[in-house]
Amino acid sequence: MTNEIKIFSPATVANVACGFDVLGFCLDNVGDEMVIRKISKKGIYITKIEGYNLPYEAHLNVAGVSALALIEDANPDCGFEIEIYKHIKPGSGIGSSSASAAGSVFGINELLGRPYNNTQLTYFAMKGEAIASMSEHADNLAPALFGGFTLVKSIAPLEILQIPTPKELYATIIHPQIEIKTSEARAILPKNVPLKDAIGQWANVGSLIHALHTSNYSLIQRSLQDIIVEPYRSKLIPHFDDVKFAALNHGALGCSISGSGPSIFALSEGLEVAKNVEDAMKTIYSETGIEFDTFVSPINTKGIKILNS
Ligand code: HSE
Repeated sequence: MTNEIKIFSPATVANVACGFDVLGFCLDNVGDEMVIRKISKKGIYITKIEGYNLPYEAHLNVAGVSALALIEDANPDCGFEIEIYKHIKPGSGIGSSSASAAGSVFGINELLGRPYNNTQLTYFAMKGEAIASMSEHADNLAPALFGGFTLVKSIAPLEILQIPTPKELYATIIHPQIEIKTSEARAILPKNVPLKDAIGQWANVGSLIHALHTSNYSLIQRSLQDIIVEPYRSKLIPHFDDVKFAALNHGALGCSISGSGPSIFALSEGLEVAKNVEDAMKTIYSETGIEFDTFVSPINTKGIKILNS
């Protein structure tokens, strides 16, 4: 059995407009790389971090905390070194902490001969995710580990449903270079919502799930609406309304905040439309003076990928 594995741990989009804390999907061409190595000394050791300044102490690092949760349960007769090559900026809203948290447990599980399934790995990874966002949620972790679209039906007990991905669906992302902390973006949300809004929101979640199952793009379009969270959080993102208007005007099926922001995502039918949406987003932001980057991605139906082992 191999002693070292190199993986690609992808960025993800949580919430998907109407599904706050339950829906997510996996991106394909943006993510972190990690090397996980089995060693004889017991414990978790983060030996290298490139890209961003993050803690090396395992109990303070999301990849370390999830790995510690796994080995506490598995009690293996060895330890693990973790190298993190971070490409997803922390606080960008595309699942930076989840990529680290999911990557470490995925890699260790492979090196141990896969004792755990993806739901169990999500459970361990939630322990790491919780130190980044001050709350346990799995809507970025589940798509990173399972791939495609996922619905977190419940977190206690943890139950994750895999939702099919329509073939022609592409994501466009714009990432304004400002940081929004997930904990702060959660703190501004109301504790209660009017019943009328709840009805609209759960109707949208239900119809989006049906639309994804049936590749009904026009129903996807009518379902990608967030009545509850977006009105509060969009105020934290400069020019959000202009970007959304431009994206929809250029053919996007829907456009909303990616996770807790500041990234904004759009979903489109076909690569060409997704690229037009990217150009439209760029045009809005290039006039703002705020640095940003954009990309277009297919939906990654595989999740974390093994690069070599
Ligand atoms: N569902 C979470 C939120 C995702 O929107 O706060 C962010 O990690």
